[in-house]
Amino acid sequence: MIKIPATMKAMAAKAFSLDAISLIEREVPRPARGEILVKVAAASLNYRDLAVMTGTYIPNLPLPFVPASDACGVVVELGEGVSQWRVGDRVTPLYTQGWHDGLPTPQQRATRTLGAPLEGVLQEYIAVPAEDAVRPPEGLSDIEAATLPIAALTAWSSLAEGGVKPGDTVLLQGTGGVSLFALQFAKAAGARVIVTSSSDEKLERVRKLGADVTINYRANPQWEIAAREATGGRGADIVVETGGATLPQSLAATAFGGFVAVVGFVAGYEAKIQLRQLIGPMIRVQGIAVGSRARFEAMNRAITANGIKPVIDTKFSLEEAQKAFKHMESGAHFGKVVIAI
Ligand SMILES: NC(=O)c1ccc[n+]([C@@H]2O[C@H](COP(=O)([O-])OP(=O)(O)OC[C@H]3O[C@@H](n4cnc5c(N)ncnc54)[C@H](OP(=O)(O)O)[C@@H]3O)[C@@H](O)[C@H]2O)c1
Repeated sequence: MIKIPATMKAMAAKAFSLDAISLIEREVPRPARGEILVKVAAASLNYRDLAVMTGTYIPNLPLPFVPASDACGVVVELGEGVSQWRVGDRVTPLYTQGWHDGLPTPQQRATRTLGAPLEGVLQEYIAVPAEDAVRPPEGLSDIEAATLPIAALTAWSSLAEGGVKPGDTVLLQGTGGVSLFALQFAKAAGARVIVTSSSDEKLERVRKLGADVTINYRANPQWEIAAREATGGRGADIVVETGGATLPQSLAATAFGGFVAVVGFVAGYEAKIQLRQLIGPMIRVQGIAVGSRARFEAMNRAITANGIKPVIDTKFSLEEAQKAFKHMESGAHFGKVVIAI
């Protein structure tokens, strides 16, 4: 029997500002029927968490709220009727609760995501439905497994929807969480990978991770031309578009019949494209919103089979959560910013 305290520590935002996050004491939740209570061991931050903290990403979010969605922990109590987990099992909750396979429902997307509008994981315990968590890959530590729910799964879904295969060229923007997972998955699939970054030092590091071609998008604002040249003029088969506003440039770097996974907006939410950029080369452009439980499980099998290790930038404590957010906001990170709880 694991002793569960009555109260716990949590990090909560009392206003929409990174300066408004502070430690609070609150009651430990009890697992309802069909739920598991998870003692959170580690969490990781995503760019989305910064956007949520501005108060614009999810309007009317009630304050105070506990941010962040990605965690790994251990099951400490079973709600009534739970048979698929045992106390002591390691779990990673799904970001989109209830999305098990295929497409999510609009309601799941709008109302069932952890870290807003559902409360997040920067707390010592969290109760989630038993069916909305997966077993993390065996070889990963809690810290490593906590990086998977959004960044890794988004990278995995992008390449899966793009139908990645050996010999493809995959173009990745920047060296954030999504891009570094996409780099590792693309290499495991036998693809050639082009990575852009604002930093030569980070490009040096992605070459060590297996990137075949690197381009500094600051020093070379027309990076799409350099990317196309690096493919002998053919273009990339798959682009993971984390920039957003950079979509016209990505389209210019995409091969005939290529695929652009529109994932993020670090360069801005709006892009103006010439439709002929799509029509002539018959490029498929698809929005990606993380992924389902079935995809998560498939990805975990691939992580184990290929010995993939998430790239961890810096580890902070729960008390240092504000520092962790600010570090992420600075853009200095390479890979995932994590919080040990
Ligand atoms: N749709 C989804 O399911 C989903 C899931 C996860 C993330 N996202 C979104 O995808 C984006 C990336 O997320 P993340 O978690 O990987 O973020 P992250 O870890 O914070 O990485 C962001 C990286 O983007 C690069 N960057 C910044 N400005 C850029 C620009 N103008 N052009 C190209 N690259 C630029 C930087 O790389 P360098 O420092 O190397 O320049 C930075 O490190 C965010 O917009 C996030 O919200 C969406």
